[in-house]
Amino acid sequence: MKEFTICESFSRADTEYAIALENPAAYGTIIGGFLLQQNMLGPCSTLVEIGGGYGSLMNGFLTSHAEMVKKVMMVDLSEGLLRRQKKTLEIWHEKVRFVRADIHELSGAIRGADLIIMNEVIGDLDTMIDIDTEDLPHQVRHLVDSYGLDIPPQGCFNLNIGAIRLIESLCSKGIPIFLTEHSSDPIIPQDLGFLSRGLDLDSYPRRIDLFKHKEYTIRFSHLIKVAHALGKKTKTGALLDLIGLRRSPALNMVFTSRACSTSYQEVMFELLDHIREYRWLIIR
Ligand SMILES: C[S@@+](CC[C@H](N)C(=O)[O-])C[C@H]1O[C@@H](n2cnc3c(N)ncnc32)[C@H](O)[C@@H]1O
Repeated sequence: MKEFTICESFSRADTEYAIALENPAAYGTIIGGFLLQQNMLGPCSTLVEIGGGYGSLMNGFLTSHAEMVKKVMMVDLSEGLLRRQKKTLEIWHEKVRFVRADIHELSGAIRGADLIIMNEVIGDLDTMIDIDTEDLPHQVRHLVDSYGLDIPPQGCFNLNIGAIRLIESLCSKGIPIFLTEHSSDPIIPQDLGFLSRGLDLDSYPRRIDLFKHKEYTIRFSHLIKVAHALGKKTKTGALLDLIGLRRSPALNMVFTSRACSTSYQEVMFELLDHIREYRWLIIR
C-alpha cells in the first residue's frame, strides 16, 4: 500500500502504537467488538470487506469473532493486495473468498451479505475537483438538489463524487455499512479540545499527497445526507474514541508543545496528529 493506515498502526496488539490504547488489541478485534456492541454483528454473519489492504483488519476481526462469522468476501481492485490478503488470512481459508473487482462495478451485484466494511477506502475513490459554485456541472447540481448537500457560498470546492455514488448504490442493497476515513469535517471529543488546534472542522474535501498516489478527505456530512435521503439511519463519531484512546494529561502537553524527546511522546504526537481527522460512520 502507498500509505500507513490506522489499521496497520494497530495491526497487532503489541505494535509501538499500542501504548495509546486503554485496552491494547489488534484493530480488527476492536472493530469486531464495536460492531457487536452496536448490534451490527449477529450469529452466522456474512461479511463483505471492500479494500482490505494487507488483510490485517479481517485477521484481527476473525481472531476474536470467528464464531460469529459464517462467510467473508474480500473485494479489492489490486491483485497484489489480494495476494497479501490471501496470505494473511490463510488460516481462515474455509470461510474467506477473494474477488478482484472495482467496487463501483461490483456493488450492484452484492447479495446476501449482513455487513459491509470499508476501512480507509472511500478517500481513494473519484473526487471532482475545482467545482465553481457559480457554475455547477449538471450531475453536481442534481446531487446537491436531490440530497440537500451544502456547498460553500462562493469560490471552488471539491466533491467526493465516487464515495457519494457508492453510498447511493450500497444503500439500495439494504445491507448495513461500517466505514472509516480521513474527514474534512472531523469530530473532536470534548475532553480533547486541544486536538482541534489548526484544524478546520467544517471544510470540503482536501487533497492528501501520498507516495505515488493521492487521495481526498471525505465530507462525512454529505454521506450522511445521502443516507438519510435514502431512508437510512446513521451513527458517527471520532475514530480515536472508537479505538479507546487512553486519556492522560500528558497528551495535551505532547500535542500542544510538539514535545518529542521520548519515544512515547514521538509515537503519541504522530498518532494524534494523524488520527484526529478520522471518523467512523454506520449506515443501516
Ligand atoms: C488505503 S488502502 C486501505 C487498506 C485497509 N482497509 C486498511 O485500512 O489498512 C485502500 C484499499 O482500497 C482498495 N481500493 C481502492 N479503490 C478501490 C476500488 N475502486 N474498488 C475496490 N477496492 C479499492 C485498495 O486496493 C486498498 O486495498
